[in-house]
Amino acid sequence: TTCILLGAPVQEGTGRLGCDMGPSAFRAAGLAGALSELGHTVLDRGNLAPAGRSEIRHGNPAIKSLADIVAWTELLAAATYEASAEGMPITLGGDHSLAAGTLSGISRRAAELGRPLFVLWLDAHPDLHTLDSTESGNLHGVPMAYATGQPGFDGIFPPLAAPLDPARICMMGIRSVDPAERARLAASDIAVHDMRAIDEHGVAALLRGFIAQVADAGGLLHVSLDVDFLDPDIAPGVGTTVPGGATFREAHLVMEMLCDSGLVTSLDLVELNPFLDERGRTARLMVDLVASLMGRRVLDRPTRSH
Ligand code: ARG
Ligand code: MN
Ligand code: MN
Ligand code: MN
Repeated sequence: TTCILLGAPVQEGTGRLGCDMGPSAFRAAGLAGALSELGHTVLDRGNLAPAGRSEIRHGNPAIKSLADIVAWTELLAAATYEASAEGMPITLGGDHSLAAGTLSGISRRAAELGRPLFVLWLDAHPDLHTLDSTESGNLHGVPMAYATGQPGFDGIFPPLAAPLDPARICMMGIRSVDPAERARLAASDIAVHDMRAIDEHGVAALLRGFIAQVADAGGLLHVSLDVDFLDPDIAPGVGTTVPGGATFREAHLVMEMLCDSGLVTSLDLVELNPFLDERGRTARLMVDLVASLMGRRVLDRPTRSH
């Protein structure tokens, strides 16, 4: 696979500083080397930087840094759309607001190819706020609402070439949902596997169903991996820790099953905050998870499923 690394040091979507160091930490933790050791070609395009923008006003006074996030969305939509013609875009965040751009760019590519786009959202949060419903005003909480065409983004965010079909979205690891998001999820076709579902059924059974759905439809699969999907005990380098997250073994299993499926065509790595990390352990864990996704395995033969 040709892996195209796109650094997206956006941090304005969170309430704090530090995510701008994420792309550097992924590089320092050896992402490119891990991928090339597995036989992949790595093209590191460096870090993107949006041009300056004038203020954008919105009726919700809580909203922070709207113009910055709109600018990042435009830039990343174009960058991922272009990269997806050459290989597998891997966007190094940066906070999760960047998914507004990556999902927009990849969905445009999928529409042009005439292939359905599926999204696996690995996160403690659904990030399904609209500009009107966000109370924190942190725009890392809105990309899924934007990408699925929820109202209120028109005329502010760039128009979507192709909104995501909620029936093609699977969320795993969810354990922190605000009231407006809860109502939106209840009314939507998004498949949500919260931590309870993972505890009852295990990640393998839940993921197997989704992978089969993507394979049957001949779809493209975008994976958006938020550091807070993982349990804070193993991944402290994130600003929005929520207890009770995915374990080391669950997270690797998800990546190994995705690898075996051969379906993943693009990836976001988001919310890594190196300022909050402990000697790079979260960055290294994320790199190891990418390695599992891209082919690192324990044995040089397929793992027997039964
Ligand atoms: N729902 C909360 C909010 O809107 C938390 C969002 C966290 N999002 C994230 N990408 N870490 O503020
Ligand atoms: Mn998120
Ligand atoms: Mn999250
Ligand atoms: Mn469990």
